[in-house]
This record gives sequence, structure tokens and C-alpha cells, in this order.
Amino acid sequence: MRILVTGGAGYIGAHVVRSLQSNGHDAVVLDDLSTGIGDRLGRDTPLYVGSVLDTDLLVRVMRTNHVQCVVHLAGKKAVAESVARPLAYYHENVVGILDLLTAMACAGVKRLVYSSSAAVYGTPSDGVVTENSPTEPESPYGWTKLMGERMIRDTAATSELSWASLRYFNVAGAGDPCLADRGESNLIPRVFRSVAEGTRPQIFGGAHPTPDGTCIRDYVHVADLADAHAAVVERMEVAKLAVTYNVGTGTGTSVLQMMNAIRHASGVDFQWDVTEPRPGDPPRVVASADRIHADLDWCVRHDLDSIVRTAWQGWCTRPGDRAPSEFVAHE
Ligand code: WQD
Repeated sequence: MRILVTGGAGYIGAHVVRSLQSNGHDAVVLDDLSTGIGDRLGRDTPLYVGSVLDTDLLVRVMRTNHVQCVVHLAGKKAVAESVARPLAYYHENVVGILDLLTAMACAGVKRLVYSSSAAVYGTPSDGVVTENSPTEPESPYGWTKLMGERMIRDTAATSELSWASLRYFNVAGAGDPCLADRGESNLIPRVFRSVAEGTRPQIFGGAHPTPDGTCIRDYVHVADLADAHAAVVERMEVAKLAVTYNVGTGTGTSVLQMMNAIRHASGVDFQWDVTEPRPGDPPRVVASADRIHADLDWCVRHDLDSIVRTAWQGWCTRPGDRAPSEFVAHE
């Protein structure tokens, strides 16, 4: 199929584009390059530089490229930033999905894969969450993701929209060093930055109700996450979907375990400090990914060592900001 990937020049988006293309699909990308990097895309991938808030542009891109499916990744995703700038998050993430759904209806595009988040669960009661677990977001970011899910579901109730919402857990690693995460808000790149600078990374809280006292998360390799999108798209070609999937590994890793994994991958025997807990940090968030495994036969192919090793390789081969490749500038 011909697939529009919004946010396709981002860390996750570029991996999704590659996975879709390797599965025989044609991808076109819309990205405002606020955090995306055009060079992450092959020269054969049309890139429209613009915002999902530009409904006219969205319709033009969909019609011009005979788009049959949209994978919507564009949006803001920093939890702490969403607390400081809630309206910016509601504008980009909620008005953004509203404009996308409007444009899809106008252009007659009836398939949507939506990037949602484990952040919709807030602090789970027992740590392991299924798609039926209570959704009680604890940040504006999490609320924007849950509102997007609701808007999609309600739109589909009165239209022919086929949809899947994917709730990402903690995405990390790199399928290719040049596609590595350039952001530095999440644990792994923050530790890498400290190691590179010779400062001591911080563990936020050492007395959480977990076996080693540090928070536990479900780290999923970005290449596995990208393949989950391709598996959903493949099913959408032959069936109408209305489904929500957790995309995680089902395995929890503590921050302390992650620190030791980074020591091993980097070969640097660094020390760390244990500080006060970060407000709003759930002690444990681990996915049950049984549904996507049962429905689509998707399964994780990369373990924690692969996640940390490929992330480190990506960090160590951070390319200079090369001149952007030729963009397909919109009219
Ligand atoms: C991971 C763990 C921290 C930094 C993220 C995204 C969110 C969503 C889910 C996509 C936590 C601890 C961190 C540090 C630390 N993904 N930590 N020292 O908060 O789980 O949420 O994944 O939608 O968008 O934000 O990820 O990487 O910030 O933290 O101890 O310097 O590492 O307390 O337990 P988080 P994170």
C-alpha cells in the first residue's frame, strides 16, 4: 500500500518507514522537522516538510500520493515538558489528530495506525498492564494520547475507518546507528551523556517498592516496535480493524539493572548517584503484549543487551548535522 507516515523523520518514525518499505509498501513522509532529521530517510522517500495542523497540506499529500493508509507518529512526547506546557501538547497532539482525521475523511483515506503510549495507564495498580487495564493518565501528555484514542474510536463509529492504536512502552535501541535517538530526555541517552561527560548519572529513587528499590520499565527495541506497525498494516490490507495493542516485551528491567547493562555495553565502569524519586514516576510499568502476539503473531526479536548495545553504537556514531537532503517541498 501507499502509506503516509506523519513524523516519519523522527527516531521511531524513520524505523517505521524502513520496516514498511522492507515489507513492500511505498512510504511518503510528512514531518515538520522540529525534532525529525530529514537525512534519516532514503532519497527515494518523498518528504513533505510541514505540520499535521495544516489540513490543506494533509489533503494535498494524501490525494497527490494516492495514500491508502496513515501511520500517525507526529506529536510531542516529553512527559515533563507536557506538564510545563500543557496547551502546546493539547494543540499539537489533540488538534493534530483532529486535523488528521478531518483530512483523511476529506481525502477518502480509511486506514489509520496511531501512536499511543503506556503513559495512558498512569500508575498501574499491579504493574503489569493489559489493554483492558484502567487508563488514568497522570500527565497532559498521557491525556493527549488517550484523547486521541477516543477521537479515533468515535470517528470510526460513524464511518468506515479501520484503526489500530499502539500503546508504546519504553522505546530504545537503534536498528541502524544513523537512526539512533537524538533526544536526551529518556534514561538511556541521559546516562550516555553523563558517561561521555564524566559526570555521575542519577537514579531517581532507590526505595521504590521493587526488588532492588529502583523503578521498573518495559524496554522495547525500536526495530521490534517498527515491525509491529508493519504487522498491523499487513492485517489492515485484508481486514477492517478496531483494536488497541500494547507494544512491549512483558519483561521489566530496573534502572539499576539498566545501569549495569550500560556499563557492560559501554565498557565504562562508571558510578552513579541515587537521588530523590522523580514526581509522578510509577514504580513499575510492564506490558502484557499477549493480544498483539495472539492476533498478529508479532513477537520481540531483540533483548535488553541488543537494546543497550545498539543504542550505545548509535550514540558513539552521532553524525554531524549534514546538509538536509533535497526535500519535496510542499507547494
Ligand atoms: C525511565 C525510568 C525514571 C532518567 C517514557 C516516555 C513516555 C512513554 C513511556 C512513549 C524511570 C528513570 C530516568 C534518569 C532515572 N513513551 N530515570 N534517571 O518516564 O518511563 O516514560 O516511556 O510514549 O513518553 O517519557 O521514561 O526514560 O524518562 O525513565 O532514574 O536520569 O528511568 O525514573 O523510572 P518514562 P524515562
